[in-house]
Amino acid sequence: MTQFSESELTAAVVKSFDATPDLRAKFLLQELVKSLHDFVRRTDLTFDEWGYAIDFLTRTGQKCSDSRQEFILLSDVLGVSMLVDAVNHREREGATETTVLGPFYVGEHRPTPHGTDISTQAAGEKMFVTSRVTDLEGKPLAGAAVDVWHADGDGFYDSQRPSYEAEGPSSRARFITDADGRFYFRTILPHSYPIPTDGPVGDMILRVRRPAMRPAHVHFLIDAHGYEPLITHVFIGGDEHLDRDVVFGVKQELISRVERQTDPVMPDGKLAAGPWHLMTYEFRMKPGDGAAPKPMKIKVAEAA
Ligand code: BEZ
Ligand code: FE
Repeated sequence: MTQFSESELTAAVVKSFDATPDLRAKFLLQELVKSLHDFVRRTDLTFDEWGYAIDFLTRTGQKCSDSRQEFILLSDVLGVSMLVDAVNHREREGATETTVLGPFYVGEHRPTPHGTDISTQAAGEKMFVTSRVTDLEGKPLAGAAVDVWHADGDGFYDSQRPSYEAEGPSSRARFITDADGRFYFRTILPHSYPIPTDGPVGDMILRVRRPAMRPAHVHFLIDAHGYEPLITHVFIGGDEHLDRDVVFGVKQELISRVERQTDPVMPDGKLAAGPWHLMTYEFRMKPGDGAAPKPMKIKVAEAA
């Protein structure tokens, strides 16, 4: 029988994966073991701390459902989601920067005519969004599917509201870019909001005295044939939480100056009912392929 010292134990566990047929899986598992063992050695982890970690991960798993992914939320607040995004998008070549998808991409993105007000059920200050989708040279991309979703003026997504089942989607839609690569719509100015704090991840964030807030933003998922799907969001310039986003998702290039307008006519020539805000943004797509992510299945009662 072999008895292992601290360092021999790591080597033995790493070696135990040597016969893994999938070489990438073998590499990932062996590196994971090395990192975990290093963590235990560097921290002199106690039994109580190890037990707490096991319980925390158990509760994280138990909080997951068809419509709630607490492990992704954990990955988000630990900066892992943005790091995975970064290592997979190292060469942007001028393409729009990417950021996390987030848990509120829930699938009710109906093709909608340009100019539609997508926030008729939500209270907030009016906003007009006008945008264009191009390739890296600025050539417009027609026929691209653009899913948009954002929080309302109180910082809630439609899917977090009990009224969602009866009233259907609000502040989310799909637009198909026109011959000039354009899409535009009416909505309301989104508000900053806290990540869900009713689970173990939110509980941890509150206990370690971290702000749970995300700065106000509009999500975009753009899918154009022959281009990498673009997952990003555009932040509202001046938001007080831009420097301390709980999921580390802010990038300078994604901040838009959204200005208050008093012009009685909106960019599509229609009359404004009062003051409104204007968001303009141009998205540049990188040639390539890949499948756009599938939305979570929504179950209203569990969505908050
Ligand atoms: C969001 O922007 O919708 C989001 C992203 C990560 C965690 C929580 C919310
Ligand atoms: Fe969001």
